[in-house]
Amino acid sequence: DPAVAEQTRRVLLAAPRGYCAGVDRAVVTVEKALDLYGPPVYVRKQIVHNKHVVATLEKRGAIFVDETYEVPEGATVIFSAHGIAPEVRDQARELSLKTIDATCPLVTKVHREARRFASDEYDILLIGHEGHEEVIGTAGEAPDNIVLVQSPEHADTVQVRHPDKLVWLSQTTLSVDETMETVRRLKQRFPKLQDPPSDDICYATQNRQLAVKQMAPRTDLMIVVGSRNSSNSVRLVEVALEHGARAGHLVDYADEIEECWLDGVTTVGVTSGASVPEVLVRDVLGYLAERGYGEVETITAAEESLLFALPTELRRELKARG
Ligand code: F3S
Repeated sequence: DPAVAEQTRRVLLAAPRGYCAGVDRAVVTVEKALDLYGPPVYVRKQIVHNKHVVATLEKRGAIFVDETYEVPEGATVIFSAHGIAPEVRDQARELSLKTIDATCPLVTKVHREARRFASDEYDILLIGHEGHEEVIGTAGEAPDNIVLVQSPEHADTVQVRHPDKLVWLSQTTLSVDETMETVRRLKQRFPKLQDPPSDDICYATQNRQLAVKQMAPRTDLMIVVGSRNSSNSVRLVEVALEHGARAGHLVDYADEIEECWLDGVTTVGVTSGASVPEVLVRDVLGYLAERGYGEVETITAAEESLLFALPTELRRELKARG
């Protein structure tokens, strides 16, 4: 009976979802820099891994470049939330660039750990995805000491120089469960492997995964709003599928949802990655409401209230200009 089906259709909406404290700070940093200096303001790499955010800031006059040398001498450049290797800072100095560092403080924390363990002559197993900007930045802190571990399978073959003086660190946006599996397998081979002093996978990544885990068993289709290059967003789809969602898709915009995904679907789970503005989630909810999924139940897995102060360079400048 289509009328009955209509009645029971619903959306489970994850909380928390969307912006984390580090993304909020990075995006506001670019906005304030545009207000302060006027366009153009240069940003090295995507400030956060979200198509919509980047397009919106581009319209306001931000220019995104891949390499530091693309920034004209003496101009202002903002470093993205994912962090940078020390050599990038050197390049900026050589070009006399004015820099604003929007690296998330929770990424900076991992950099600090890497530097400290390297100076104590540890070998460091960095769990993360090759080529991701955060991994390039963190590995750049101690290239001679850091070996990348990309997956649980890779843990079975990775080689180290000093198995007796060994610590693992990780990218901030990994799957918590998969990382624990990687660590378990590493410890089988390297019993003296030490844990990091505190969680490297950040609170936002953990909380978003927690909410998805709670929703997934009740979900026929999980829609994660986020961009393909957003590590934490991609992980949310994987976590949903591992925990019982029958299908899962990543979309940047509501208009990427395909009607056929909804065939036979009663419950749709909706969440968004840490770099995703809420307006994009609203659009998805609107799309679903138009198709009979108007009832929305929020599944709250954690409360978040963390806020980070803006980068010091920017705060100083804002203060100077009153
Ligand atoms: Fe930082 Fe975690 Fe967000 S590392 S940028 S708070 S996803």
